[in-house]
Amino acid sequence: MPLHVLNHPLGTHVLTHLRDKTTKPALFRTLSYQIALLLSLEATRDLATEEKKIETPMEPMTGRVLARPLVIVPILRAGLGMVQPFQDIYPDVSIGYVGLERDHTTAIARSYYCKLPPLDGRRTIVVDPMLATGGSAAQAIDVVKAAGAREIVFVCIVAAPEGVATLSQAHPEVPIHAGVLDRQLNAKKYIMPGLGDFGDRLYGT
Ligand code: PRP
Ligand code: URA
Repeated sequence: MPLHVLNHPLGTHVLTHLRDKTTKPALFRTLSYQIALLLSLEATRDLATEEKKIETPMEPMTGRVLARPLVIVPILRAGLGMVQPFQDIYPDVSIGYVGLERDHTTAIARSYYCKLPPLDGRRTIVVDPMLATGGSAAQAIDVVKAAGAREIVFVCIVAAPEGVATLSQAHPEVPIHAGVLDRQLNAKKYIMPGLGDFGDRLYGT
């Protein structure tokens, strides 16, 4: 199973505050930024670099820089809460958008928006905080593949075993980076213990 779970005390600390039901939207947004930053480092550990000749104030040297630009694709709307750290620390990042919304009774995702930059030859990082049934993630990856993405990574904050199984079956070559792997889904397809509805908590709805 291509699942990588974050193993860092700062990640555990941030996640505990993110899960806490008394955490208000302003702090929730900051914590989302912090956990997404830690996850972005994990999801890009193996990015290709290439040589670049520079001169320091002391002497010439050969350094290394990223060989190819990155594309981040948040699944709207909650995925937007994970985009900023990628914009802050990765040069030449492009952002695409896939809009999906789960039906409240069936938990099946409906597509309502798609706008993507060129994906061919670039690592495409699809981000969505919650991997519950895995339906949204699998559908979003279908969309980026159809648009030309070949090197795809999926990043989430909380994963359920059911979502990991579904996504691994649909797209076995796509690595999954998760902040934490939770116990299970409940009857309404919410993650347990989870953190509730991420989009609602992020946007105060
Ligand atoms: C949530 C979440 C994921 C999806 C995960 O979005 O942000 O996109 O559910 O569930 P799944 O793995 O069962 O598909 P939601 O549909 O609530 O929309 P929102 O981001 O607009 O709140
Ligand atoms: N979407 C959420 O925001 N939370 C869950 O627990 C499941 C799907």
